[in-house]
Amino acid sequence: MASLAERSGAPMGERDLHDDEIAEIVRALVESDGRVQRLDLPRRRLWIKRQGSKVMPVFVALQGLAAALFRLPFLRPSPQLAPEAMQAREIERLRAFGKAGFPVPRLVYASATAMVMADAGPTIAEHMRRVRADAGAHDAFLVKGAEALGRVHAAGLSHGRPHVRDFFLADGAVGFMDFEEDPASVMPLETAQARDVLLYFLVVTSFAASPDKTCPAALDAWLRHAPVATRRELRTLASVASRILPLARLIGRVHMGSDLRRFIMATEFLMQAPLDRAESPNTAKAGQDG
Ligand SMILES: Nc1ncnc2c1ncn2[C@@H]1O[C@H](COP(=O)(O)OP(=O)(O)O)[C@@H](O)[C@H]1O
Ligand SMILES: [Mg+2]
Repeated sequence: MASLAERSGAPMGERDLHDDEIAEIVRALVESDGRVQRLDLPRRRLWIKRQGSKVMPVFVALQGLAAALFRLPFLRPSPQLAPEAMQAREIERLRAFGKAGFPVPRLVYASATAMVMADAGPTIAEHMRRVRADAGAHDAFLVKGAEALGRVHAAGLSHGRPHVRDFFLADGAVGFMDFEEDPASVMPLETAQARDVLLYFLVVTSFAASPDKTCPAALDAWLRHAPVATRRELRTLASVASRILPLARLIGRVHMGSDLRRFIMATEFLMQAPLDRAESPNTAKAGQDG
């Protein structure tokens, strides 16, 4: 039976909570001011996410500056909104993903700036940690995430900040959470999607146990579903990013932060990746048996 739980379009504020749970949530909201909080209740685990207690990282500010200096739309940060608007945007995007058939955490309650979600289970990052002794199983998650990201793009959506920390598994399918960023509101959809791919490859290149095998497999998996316009945009983006590489390497000699190292690795991979092959219908060849 499809319960309220399974419906993705429940109106904001609709409750699916027991009275004792409401008391616990109110207590958690009052007693703590953490941004994301796990609440282990007798019946189940819930998550509270509050907007407004996150400061803009220096990296995001620098990114905005670089976007303006180099005229690179893909670097443009999502607009920083007031907490209420931020949450409305996150809920709206969560619903859009749910409506398109992607698993998303079920929203059980929302106030103006706090949302309470059902537990979506371990994130893919957690699954990966559990199997890290098995390189094949570990990296298969990265490929699976790339495939799911391709499906997201084929559905006309962009994630904004794709990371295995914000992906989970629901009956074997990849689900998504954390929809705070909305790059498609400040750049064309295909640019936002190509940016998703670059961001996701920051994760793939740095997490893969066998990057030489896993990076191409992940790209192939994304290409299986990716819209043509996005493939084209990714090629442009990779070539633009590659022009920043010398500067990035130079900065890296002075201070190689982890963001910078990931950017260099992902760009180096994407700029030499056979993205052109994507235009031919023969791309989806066999070769990865997971
Ligand atoms: N509904 C949920 N189910 C399971 N884990 C969750 C849920 N909501 C949040 N989390 C965990 O908390 C982390 C942070 O939440 P997220 O929405 O990504 O906030 P942030 O913007 O701080 O990254 C997630 O990466 C995940 O590990
Ligand atoms: Mg997150």
